[in-house]
Amino acid sequence: MARPIIIDCDPGVDDCFALLTALASPEELEIKGICTVAGNVPVETCTKNALGLLTFTGRTDIPVYQGCPRPIQEAPVFASHIHGETGLGAARLPEPVVDARPEHAVAFLIDTLRSASPASITLVPTGPLTNLGLALVEAPDIAEAIAEIVIMGGAFETGGNITETAEFNMYADPHAADIVMSCGRPITLIGLDATLKFRCTVERMKMLSDARHKTTDLISEMIGHVNDIYGEIYGEDGAAMHDPCTIGYLLAPHLFEARTAHVRVETEGRRGHTAVDVHLLGDAKPNVNWVDGLDAPRLFELLLSRITRL
Ligand code: RIB
Ligand code: CA
Repeated sequence: MARPIIIDCDPGVDDCFALLTALASPEELEIKGICTVAGNVPVETCTKNALGLLTFTGRTDIPVYQGCPRPIQEAPVFASHIHGETGLGAARLPEPVVDARPEHAVAFLIDTLRSASPASITLVPTGPLTNLGLALVEAPDIAEAIAEIVIMGGAFETGGNITETAEFNMYADPHAADIVMSCGRPITLIGLDATLKFRCTVERMKMLSDARHKTTDLISEMIGHVNDIYGEIYGEDGAAMHDPCTIGYLLAPHLFEARTAHVRVETEGRRGHTAVDVHLLGDAKPNVNWVDGLDAPRLFELLLSRITRL
């Protein structure tokens, strides 16, 4: 029985990699809907990219709901210097042949979770947590229907990627992230400590191009752009592919290493810093399954085998 999921994303190059992997895994994952949120690029661009990806894969049956154009309290921060103005690096997607649904993503999350059975739907945020944070404030009762929240976000021993201590998704909307961390439902948080171990190396870029497949060609053009941007920083190692680690975790959790922790997101001072307490000091209760390791070669093999199915 496929696991019902809702992906909440800011596509974004690595969000596209995650979406394609999920779309290629219908036996395991039933995508109930895709929500978009301002993050890497403005939310309208994220929505166009999600619709373009569904057009590219012929899955326009999957509904897309546009979400928040800015964080709850902070001014929006974008990463178009990394993902390009289109959010797709050097790649192009077909013009969407469908529109986003008229409902706001927050309304979709509330309506869908309110009508779902307890602990039945897995949420997969790969962008700032604004939509889910607001849905939980407006309708706290929806938490009961959440089976698990598998989030790309946070940083501990690696340090941050937008400030010295904060990862982008947590930094963009720390107030929403703080709300989600305390929702009381099972959270798996896949932070930079894990995702920086998943690089698009020269060897893996060659595997993508050698596959000679429309989807690997698309991903190559996306990631190649990010690798060029990060060239000086990451060199041969290539850029990290953060978001597909969430889908990889859902498909093959045995490829990941995790430990329970208490995680708090700072909203003042070190904005977006994830205080990851793995020693559960004081009266801290574990609220997160903190993922900080992965088997990169086998994860890449899995993702490649999936996206070439499309
Ligand atoms: O820090 C990496 C995260 O920020 C990824 O989700 C990337 O897409 C950006 O949203
Ligand atoms: Ca993202």
